[in-house]
Amino acid sequence: MVSNKLFALLCLLPAVLGAHSSSATTSVPTTSGAKPSSAVPTTSSVPSTTSASSSSVSSVSSSSTSVVSSAPPTSASSSPATSETGVISIPLSSYPFTPYPTPTLPAYPPVFPATDPLNPPEVSNDPQVIPDFAPAWAAAYDKAKKLIADYTIEDKVNITTGVGWMGGLCVGNIPANKGFPGLCLEDSPLGVRDTDYNTAFPAAIQAASTWNRALIRARGLAMGQEFKGKGVHVALGPMMNMGRIAQGGRNWEGFGADPFLAGEGAYETILGLQQGGVQATAKHFIGNEQEHFRTQESSNIDDRTMHEIYAHPFLRSVMAGVASVMCSYNLLNDTYACNNDKTMNDILKREFGFQGFIQSDWQATMATLSAVAGLDMTMPGDVTFNSGDSYFGGNLTSYVNNGYISMERLDDMATRIIAGWYFLHQDSGYPEVSFNAFNLNDEVNNKHVNVQADHYKIVREVGTQGTVLLKNQNGALPLHKPRNMILVGSDARLGMSGPNEFSDQGGSDGILAMGWGSGTANFPYLVSPMEAINERARQDGSSLSYNFDDWNLEQAGNLAVGQAVALVFINSDSGEDYITVDGNEGDRKNLTAWHNGDNLVQAVAAQNNNTIVVVNSVGPLILEPWIENPNITAVVWAGIQGQEAGNSIADILYGDYNPSGRLPYTIAKNPADYPAQLVTGGSGSEILIIDYTEGLNIDYRHFDAAGIEPRFEFGFGLSYTTFKYSNLEISTIKSQDNAQKDLVDAWSNGQASPIAEGSSTALWLHEPAFKVTFNVKNTGSVSGTEIPQLYIQHSADAGEPPSILKGFTNVSVDPGKTQKVSITLSRHDVSIWDVAAQGWRKPSGKISFAIGASSRDFRLQGVIPA
Ligand code: BGC
Repeated sequence: MVSNKLFALLCLLPAVLGAHSSSATTSVPTTSGAKPSSAVPTTSSVPSTTSASSSSVSSVSSSSTSVVSSAPPTSASSSPATSETGVISIPLSSYPFTPYPTPTLPAYPPVFPATDPLNPPEVSNDPQVIPDFAPAWAAAYDKAKKLIADYTIEDKVNITTGVGWMGGLCVGNIPANKGFPGLCLEDSPLGVRDTDYNTAFPAAIQAASTWNRALIRARGLAMGQEFKGKGVHVALGPMMNMGRIAQGGRNWEGFGADPFLAGEGAYETILGLQQGGVQATAKHFIGNEQEHFRTQESSNIDDRTMHEIYAHPFLRSVMAGVASVMCSYNLLNDTYACNNDKTMNDILKREFGFQGFIQSDWQATMATLSAVAGLDMTMPGDVTFNSGDSYFGGNLTSYVNNGYISMERLDDMATRIIAGWYFLHQDSGYPEVSFNAFNLNDEVNNKHVNVQADHYKIVREVGTQGTVLLKNQNGALPLHKPRNMILVGSDARLGMSGPNEFSDQGGSDGILAMGWGSGTANFPYLVSPMEAINERARQDGSSLSYNFDDWNLEQAGNLAVGQAVALVFINSDSGEDYITVDGNEGDRKNLTAWHNGDNLVQAVAAQNNNTIVVVNSVGPLILEPWIENPNITAVVWAGIQGQEAGNSIADILYGDYNPSGRLPYTIAKNPADYPAQLVTGGSGSEILIIDYTEGLNIDYRHFDAAGIEPRFEFGFGLSYTTFKYSNLEISTIKSQDNAQKDLVDAWSNGQASPIAEGSSTALWLHEPAFKVTFNVKNTGSVSGTEIPQLYIQHSADAGEPPSILKGFTNVSVDPGKTQKVSITLSRHDVSIWDVAAQGWRKPSGKISFAIGASSRDFRLQGVIPA
């Protein structure tokens, strides 16, 4: 370990201290991270020109003899002397290496039971059980070490090197080796991409909006079963970058703008995915919060903010036993994320005790010596798509042969990758890959395995429960057999050429049920609002008319006259930067509705005093142009719902489900109210600097701290009933971790947790330490589900935002009935990251908390016992 620590000390002090040069103008490598694609309508979602076996890297990498170059590293291979990184450059030298061992904490069932990923603990709203994956990792490591015992250097290198872009059946492929069938790595975070007979699940942002751990787990499990059913070994999700900027193109792929909510989303999704049998990937590590110049920007994040906000979902992923982590395209404090010793070795592997492997994002590897900084696998293998060379492959072999990279490190890389495969028991009875991600018409490799089962039910439930009711006046909703009604807006119907009209969903002219980019899957079918509501109209005898032209405002208004209800459907889309839609280069250009939506709403509301707006949006919109219009009686924030979108919307409109979704981000009155904005500009030839100067104050934390009134705050959502909170109690839970009693005592006395392997995921820090109980009464006339939220409020000298989410639950209550609810808190939940001590510390002073129905609607107030 000495060598690692010394290395960290010499090279990484600036990063540890959160220092960075704000004027860095490092030259950038030529890779763009872009994938061949287009935003034009096409019937096939993939380029059809390249055959699966045409990649030169594929043939090189999969042949253990030809891959080896005995010559020293040259050319496009990493040239550490000309550093692509800013502050941290790894000098060409030899690096002795000791792997971080599997942490060996004694198990404490029932709090800390030894857990196999195929058999995770039951979902609990009140998490008392912390799965201990260490024994399962240790067993997987033993098997992996045995398997590679007679591997040559080239064999081991091949395990670490993808076969090259389009060099195999999946979006990423590791070649077979002795006793190892190779790996298929495939997107996406919402279902199996690039195939058929799959389910198109709601996006993660929708799962987060449910605030329902059981549903989030169920979604993960169903997706895991589909990945396994298709023969995918490594699913490229979940994605957990934070919704730091409202316009962030990929925000919908993640779990919103709060680290605790995102952490719980990641945790449950991973437990579910891996229970289904597939290895999950926590991505993108770390700081990839915008798409503009994602490969040419440095996200500069101070150490405390890094730990408390951006790394937190990854910490929870490690606690869920995640098998893989994907490092991101961007630089982090002036060093490429996939070349960053501080984040990969020090935070992820040492501090979090991560036992799996780190893979690069596609073309995000920048150097062979990234292996020393903690990178275990390069994807898709070639330096740039189809370049025919690799930073790993023959170059890694040379670096090992020449002593720049130790054999121990190479062993560790191969061991970690193969251990992930054993960890999920993929060595026995795992299905073969049965699709060709690059050619849906390849009848040899596409076996068209139907993996959908009845997962449409989960899709509909997540779609429904993630829908947030923002406004409801004059009893507008739920609908009661309206005499006549009109649906207005193209978002109410299907796209003109079906749900898979645009390659990778890079466009939309119908209901928006997915953003665009690699985070997509093909729709098997898509239920439009028109279809679902038509069905209800038939049952109710309602007259249903419609107008899907977004631009003929006069016509829309005229047709709305005399209708008992006018439903206007609007949307807003975004995605990954390799596709530009209507001038939106991944990130959204603005926070206004697409397709003339705001004008359409106003045109209809001008003619109809029962106008209901339904919004399918990837993230916040500015609703000010019309939100206070008294003719707009209800607003339904439907989100990004997947293939059952129309049914989920109808479930809410007709009251089949009483809305319980809550906003996973703040909807501001003005774009400038948000604490951080999209950074545009940059020349492309130098690194764009993105300073995360708002620190801990992202999203609602900033609105609270700066006293800005949002339109709808984080955690907000209405119901068709009302709830009353009472009888708050809090008690202390005795530590069950006797072996760590000294640490518990030291923490109670205000000392930071020690620096050690796995120190941030230790049982004593995460076991339940406080139990909060209270009553929730349904004071209305219909059954409903409430989402009580717990916010910690530190004293001012702790340097925290006014209120920070640290607990939530969901409780269904019948009218007039009362339910007792509990939420537990761990020591970690009430700690702050102490930068100087590099540990988690209980801040001095009183620690208060509030229980409420949103981040601003507090109903009960208490104090954590000292
Ligand atoms: C994306 C990743 C994705 C990968 C493979 C990259 O462009 O950033 O999220 O998993 O492509 O498709």
